Amino acid sequence: MRSRILNLLRQRSGEYLSGEEIARQLDVSRTAVWKHMRELKLEGYAIDAHSRRGYRLQQAPDLLLPDEIRAAVKTKRIGRKIHYFTEIDSTNNAAKKLAAAGAEEGTIIVSEAQNSGRGRLARGWYSPEQQGIWLSIVLRPHFSPADAPKCTLLAAVAITRAIRSLCNIDCGIKWPNDILYDGKKLVGILTEMSAEMDAINYIVIGMGINVNIQEQDFPEELKAIATSLAMIKGQAVSRLELLCDILMQLENLYAVAVSSGFSEILNEWRKYSITLGQAVNVIGIHQQFSGTAVDIDEDGALLVEATDGRHRVIAGDVSIRPKTTNTKENGID
Ligand code: BTN
Repeated sequence: MRSRILNLLRQRSGEYLSGEEIARQLDVSRTAVWKHMRELKLEGYAIDAHSRRGYRLQQAPDLLLPDEIRAAVKTKRIGRKIHYFTEIDSTNNAAKKLAAAGAEEGTIIVSEAQNSGRGRLARGWYSPEQQGIWLSIVLRPHFSPADAPKCTLLAAVAITRAIRSLCNIDCGIKWPNDILYDGKKLVGILTEMSAEMDAINYIVIGMGINVNIQEQDFPEELKAIATSLAMIKGQAVSRLELLCDILMQLENLYAVAVSSGFSEILNEWRKYSITLGQAVNVIGIHQQFSGTAVDIDEDGALLVEATDGRHRVIAGDVSIRPKTTNTKENGID
């Protein structure tokens, strides 16, 4: 009912619609309309109620509400099923539970805040309320499990496209899937998978996007290494618009991957890469060496030219650090 009332108000684009007309169109009483309006106002919708003219939607709250996402995004697969939380431990944890219980492909989990957000390499992820996009997506591709890492590259391309076009920010991708601006981290992606030997049960792609966090709000240890879209632009950015654009970009890129493979996507990844051509240190459990990142191969592995030859580096428990600066303590891996 709420969604239908909001849709009617939106169709009026800021003009008044009488309670009687709403009640008639939705076949409910005027008292029921009044009660829903009161609830919507409590949720933060700015609805102007005029005794003779009726109701007018002035502003939706700055929340990533399913009704708002559905009204703005016309995807067929990604984001048609939405689980929304005001606070959660981790959207990836919720996504994995839902996926294990059979959630359909494209299901998204979005939360205004996370109290145990997780990053790569067993790190935490700072996820303050209403200041970022903390989002996980369930995919069930018919690819081989070996192709799963390319879904994270796909997500990085989708987010980069959205940030570049919506915010006009020249961000780049650090292999495999961090998005940086001026050496500082804007976005982190954490992909988790459940698979058999030859088939994927599900992939969860979790993304943390620092949208409106201000420098003073970052914990001390992140201040030098993290940034946000609002800090770069000097003004707040609409989380809802960005989220919807990311969902649309993901929908388009995923359709390409399913129908014709990843080669176009890998090429676009190369275009946005800030790792290729760089001197890097590769630090893993079983390997540690320096070299120059020269390319990614068709599986998305990083190719690093070292003095003893070319190495193929697979994303996982590996850190890639620029050779010139010591970023060991800064958590950008
Ligand atoms: C990283 O750069 O280390 C990856 C960070 C991923 C953070 C996101 S926020 C939404 C989703 N839920 C989580 O707990 N983590 C991911």
